[in-house]
Amino acid sequence: LATVVMPLLQPLRACVLLSLIGGLATLRVVPHMRASFAKAGLTGIDLNKQTTRRLASGELVRPYEGVAVPEAMGAVSCAVYLVCLFLFIPLPFAQPGVPAYSDGAFPHAQLARLLCALLSICCMCFLGFADNVLDLRWRDRLILPLAASLPVLMTYAATGGVTTVKVPAAAQALLGLGGSVDIGALYFVYISLLAIFCTNAINILAGVNGLEVGQSVVIGLTIAAFNCVQLARWPEDSVLVGHNLFSLYVVLPFITTSLGLLWHNWYPASVFVGDTYCYFAGMTFAVAGILGHFSKTMLLFFLPQLVNFVYSLPQLALIIPCPRHRMPGYLPATDQLALSTVDFRPDELTTLGRLAYRALAALRAVHVRERADGSVAMSNLTIINFVLHVCGPMREASLTRALLGVQLASSVLAFAIRYPLAALLYDV
Ligand code: UD1
Ligand code: MG
Repeated sequence: LATVVMPLLQPLRACVLLSLIGGLATLRVVPHMRASFAKAGLTGIDLNKQTTRRLASGELVRPYEGVAVPEAMGAVSCAVYLVCLFLFIPLPFAQPGVPAYSDGAFPHAQLARLLCALLSICCMCFLGFADNVLDLRWRDRLILPLAASLPVLMTYAATGGVTTVKVPAAAQALLGLGGSVDIGALYFVYISLLAIFCTNAINILAGVNGLEVGQSVVIGLTIAAFNCVQLARWPEDSVLVGHNLFSLYVVLPFITTSLGLLWHNWYPASVFVGDTYCYFAGMTFAVAGILGHFSKTMLLFFLPQLVNFVYSLPQLALIIPCPRHRMPGYLPATDQLALSTVDFRPDELTTLGRLAYRALAALRAVHVRERADGSVAMSNLTIINFVLHVCGPMREASLTRALLGVQLASSVLAFAIRYPLAALLYDV
């Protein structure tokens, strides 16, 4: 028995095992909880579906009215994830075969790192659920992740996290700088902004079945692949091994519980994941990146989200009007999605707004329909609409696949940038 049980307790193996159990548990529990969420009033209308209705005459009509779907079900995968990691906590510290820690030798810093990671993730799930129930304002959506990231910041500082950035070889000679520059407090500003970015970036690339979870699964898998490559490349660097193992412990159960949820959120979605899931996912990545000490590399894995964020800026900053929903529009006749538009009069925008509108239109980065009365219908500024602008209307599942394809391709690009290009730019 010992030969079977002992290897399972080895932390990484135990983590993989717990993750698999967690994934299966999510897969089973989500459908059971659907009714409870609906009963609590947590439902949303799937805006891109048509329902069949039988008239008194017996005739079947397919009016466009959407389907009510349980909302915020990401809370279930969150809960399963947290249970997995709670069960996991003792394992890296009580390894069979390793003698008990002598007085004072216990790795308190490692334990604090794991606990603080869980505290921040747990806190963000709670805040995400609050957002789903209370519909928070935009201001809160920026402040809350900042608050939730403070334990992580504290741990990063307390465990001697570096605050230096590497300077590319060319810039070193040009600016007369050394190989790296200490940016001190600015580094902490950067990691707080990273937590705010990660949580919101996933939430604003949403509105198509399976997209929130799908993109998170791809990012999670990319992080895990990166950690494995790092472990394989520098197996003797114990600090680096520690950082990458930590990231794997945090990310593996995330991937499997998300896959369990994706099963039910894939087209046609029987559950919505809600802001609860988006915040949970964003914070998990931020924690892995920051406390795993690869936050700049991690940003590379968010390329589509970064592009979507920059592209969205005119609407997020409200210099171009931003409707409540920017998700694609629905074409009931063909059951396809088409780009959604926002109506405004360019001459009523501020100077900055007019400038942004003219630039976007000139670059053909948006679809514009001008009307006789001087108003225009411009496609909403999301990469979802951009894909539809380029490819034309498509079925919802195809759109999700296309966007996940973009995410996957950008992960490949991120690796190409991280390894060969980093070696060219930096002395690594
Ligand atoms: C963000 C986006 C918004 C987008 C919405 C879609 C910004 C600034 N906000 O808002 O443009 O429309 O996400 O989630 O970019 N829904 C579907 N099908 C899906 C997923 C969601 O119809 O596959 C609808 C449902 O009605 C659901 C609602 O979207 O109830 C959830 O929206 P919510 O997450 O509250 O929107 P925000 O995050 O505020
Ligand atoms: Mg949302």
